[in-house]
Amino acid sequence: MGERTLVLIKPDAVRRGLVGEVIGRFERKGLAIDEMRLRTMDPALADEHYAEHVDKPFYPPLKEFMTSGPLVAMVLSGDQAIEVVRALTGATDGRKAAPGTIRGDFSLSNRENLVHASDSPESAKREIELWFPELA
Ligand code: TYD
Ligand code: MG
Repeated sequence: MGERTLVLIKPDAVRRGLVGEVIGRFERKGLAIDEMRLRTMDPALADEHYAEHVDKPFYPPLKEFMTSGPLVAMVLSGDQAIEVVRALTGATDGRKAAPGTIRGDFSLSNRENLVHASDSPESAKREIELWFPELA
């Protein structure tokens, strides 16, 4: 099983019909899908999920975006899954993300960047408990 990480396929990717494309990249890399669910984030969940960002100037429009429609929440697992998924996702700003990464190939925005991925073992544990309490 290796390591587990939380991934959100954000509302922009769902609206654009890119869910299959994004999941396919994770699958082809060899990661396993342990859990997956379509869900719309409510404001309280957004505040908890992005606890480290709630006081930042970019947070209000980020919250508006993240609660704007359904997203796909999933737990992926595999060897060094946290780091591997971050690398496949690419840099935060889609305009600067390397071609070949999900954000680099599909995003032209610093906000609507298709994917959230846990950034450390501590974040992964916290975020998996938040989104999939039944796994804890
Ligand atoms: P952050 O945790 O810095 O990026 P990442 O998703 O790569 O871990 O920021 C969380 C999300 O906040 C990011 O995916 C998009 C949004 N965001 C903005 O809208 N504006 C910004 O200036 C930054 C840094 C992030
Ligand atoms: Mg982050």
